[in-house]
Amino acid sequence: MKRRVTKAIFPVAGLGTRFLPATKSVPKEIMTLVDRPLIQYAIDEARAAGITEFIFVTSRGKGALEDYFDHAPQLEAALLKSGKTQLLEALRASNMESGAIAYIRQHKAMGLGHAVWCARRLIANDEPFAVILPDDVIAADTPCLQQMIEAYEETGGSMVAAMEVPREKASSYGILDVNSERGNLVSVRGMVEKPKMSEAPSNLAVIGRYILAPDVLNNLNNAQLGAGGEIQLTDAIAKEIEDGRPVHGLRFSGQRFDCGSKAGFLQATVSFALARPELQDEFAAFLRDTVPLLRVAE
Ligand code: UTP
Repeated sequence: MKRRVTKAIFPVAGLGTRFLPATKSVPKEIMTLVDRPLIQYAIDEARAAGITEFIFVTSRGKGALEDYFDHAPQLEAALLKSGKTQLLEALRASNMESGAIAYIRQHKAMGLGHAVWCARRLIANDEPFAVILPDDVIAADTPCLQQMIEAYEETGGSMVAAMEVPREKASSYGILDVNSERGNLVSVRGMVEKPKMSEAPSNLAVIGRYILAPDVLNNLNNAQLGAGGEIQLTDAIAKEIEDGRPVHGLRFSGQRFDCGSKAGFLQATVSFALARPELQDEFAAFLRDTVPLLRVAE
């Protein structure tokens, strides 16, 4: 019987250089889309998928991220006293159960594979686990990780979230070599991290959601430096295929925003603001006034 997936690793130890100077003191994952930090979207998605244990791989300068998950009794009392019940509810919804979160340090940003490997002692030998990159924010009716867990219950093995990208962008992603497809499930026969456009085996890219077999951690024990001189998670998953274990991609339903880039972050901000009933009218009116100005400028 397949084990249930109850643990998720959130690698958040990267330097976040694309958002400097902000990320000199603010962890990227604390930056807010409307009024919620990126990490809150990731946590909510994980919870919806049945995750109960949350492992953060952090680094120097991520103190604000750890503080974010502390309860705030004084703030709660003040909101209660002033009758701000909606805000109180929003605040309480971000509270995490004591002991549900573990923090592990990555001493040096040596790559995503290395970050995941840092959490190896918190995952049992026979335990599948999820990995969520909070800078990929996915708006979906059924949260992306939940879609993956439902598919994983049928396939087992390892599973990555997959999305088509323009060929010229392939060198920014891990790319799937596709064996066969059934519905939105892709059977994978190889994976390559950041290939040159001419060498990309497809235009199906890996997005920051994974369900991984415990063997992937063993593969990371022996990992070599890969693309960009970093230890790549893609290489450790590709090793699963070499060893004859199944790896699938799921073409998830939903819209993905690359909030690790400025353009993606801004697009997500606009999209999430327009989805908020309390902001919709005012913000849509602003956009309606602004877009014609853009056309004139062109
Ligand atoms: P990115 O490739 O976006 O790198 O990492 P980054 O350092 O966060 O940002 P830039 O490129 O300098 O702007 C993808 C994810 O992997 C984590 C990051 O925190 C992010 O969630 N990561 C990356 C680590 O935890 N450790 C690493 O060594 C590298």
